[in-house]
Amino acid sequence: MEQQWWRTAVVYQVWPRSFADSDGDGIGDLRGVISKLDHLSDLGVDALWLSPFYPSPQVDAGYDISDYQGVDPLFGTLQDVDDLIASLHARGMRLVLDMVLNHTSDLHPWFVESRQSKDSPKRDWYFWHDEPPNQWPSLFGGSAWELDEQTGQHYLHTFAKEQPDLDWRNPEVRQALKQMLCWWLDRGVDGFRLDVISMISKDFENPWGFLGFGPQLHEHLQELRREVFAGQGLMTVGETPMATVEQARLMTEPDRKELDMVFGFEHVNLDHNLTKWDPIPLSLPRLKASFARWQEGLAAGWNSLYWDNHDQPRAVSRFGDDGEHRVASAKTLATVLHLHRGTPYVYQGEELGLKNAGFRSIHDYRDLESLNWFREATERGLPEAEALRHLQRASRDNARTPMPWDDSRRAHWIGYADDTVTVADQRDDPASVLSHYRRLIALRHEVPAVAHGDFALLLPDDERVWAFTRTHEEVELLVVANFSSYDVVPELPDWGRGELLVGTGGPRLGPWESGVLLRDR
Ligand code: GLC
Repeated sequence: MEQQWWRTAVVYQVWPRSFADSDGDGIGDLRGVISKLDHLSDLGVDALWLSPFYPSPQVDAGYDISDYQGVDPLFGTLQDVDDLIASLHARGMRLVLDMVLNHTSDLHPWFVESRQSKDSPKRDWYFWHDEPPNQWPSLFGGSAWELDEQTGQHYLHTFAKEQPDLDWRNPEVRQALKQMLCWWLDRGVDGFRLDVISMISKDFENPWGFLGFGPQLHEHLQELRREVFAGQGLMTVGETPMATVEQARLMTEPDRKELDMVFGFEHVNLDHNLTKWDPIPLSLPRLKASFARWQEGLAAGWNSLYWDNHDQPRAVSRFGDDGEHRVASAKTLATVLHLHRGTPYVYQGEELGLKNAGFRSIHDYRDLESLNWFREATERGLPEAEALRHLQRASRDNARTPMPWDDSRRAHWIGYADDTVTVADQRDDPASVLSHYRRLIALRHEVPAVAHGDFALLLPDDERVWAFTRTHEEVELLVVANFSSYDVVPELPDWGRGELLVGTGGPRLGPWESGVLLRDR
């Protein structure tokens, strides 16, 4: 069997634009990342997932790639990537690249050539139609079909119009992408996070087909595995918005030889209706049930575990209490996540309990998704103040603010979160959120039940308490968390018995407190 190092690993996500700025131009860069590897070593993480740094017009913060085999001068040079790989490997850490294979930038030479003429040799690398074959919306607003004046045809863009979708049915497209992935593997990278990979196969007849999961998805994933990923000791994680647990199972069950794990979205979709701009109250029983369903559904496969990334608002503001109980709730969110079965991801700043940006003026926002939505919503008549409140809650910019290393707060391309936490303050404080993350990451490496134990949910209907067990060989872990601002006494007769590994051992848990007990079975 291939070495599956990711089963005991914790992955740290760096979104380079806001991580560390080495040259003082207000934009984070690769030398900045290299300069902060002590922080990652100190946390104890096993791998770094690096969001896109490739040449890009930056319409969608680098998720619009115009050259897959280079580095945007904003971020540095290829030499910097090589140095980053070497520095990580020297510290026993790995590098996972973020790859956007569903679409390119409209400035990628493939699309530039494709749009030249109807008989361009690259015409069928993208989707061109005289008339839109369906009514699909773009996920960033407007129609998914854009008329191109030059040839009078429409092309498909699931995201911005500057992000045309590649046609994976074309073997030349697949060949070019596979060659490119191999080129990165030859440079020494250890895995890939595959952006919206569930969208690479589309069914034009399906009104919901813009969400992907088309007829050739599994065939394409198996081809990638066979021809690129297999036998290299890699980690692959696919981003799969709207996947059901059954779809996730098909993509991750080891025998099917597709991906190692996927990012499901079910749990981050529970606090809104169809779109994130239409909020509903979060129900703890539903949140617990979602996690449990994925734990059970992927018992033969593997889960990825996350609260935060560059697309989601900050967990402590969203699922916790970023006011009075910020520290306790940030720790409890971490405990619950890291004690599930799967590979946990920590997104820069999450380990500090960093809050949402909370920007109050539209001029502070940078993300095109937010700006497009704000324009459309206010044109439809939504008062600006109300639209801004939605952005304060749900904008992706909430998680894109500069990493607060210390309180120097040098000016950046985007403002800082309205917050005072810093790495410098938390590093040596044993009671800090940062120290708590360090402890949880160490636990996964030290206690086999954390990585490998079987999962069982307790008290499914409890509106305040999140409790579950993980069992492995002779050992049981009992995880109990208070998701409320009141004291609770969990209705678990033997809560309190065992060795306390982290947190508070009960029987009473204060607001947002939690604990993990280890005991014999
Ligand atoms: C993924 C990325 C997101 C990006 C989108 C389009 O969802 O995480 O940041 O905007 O794909 O590439």
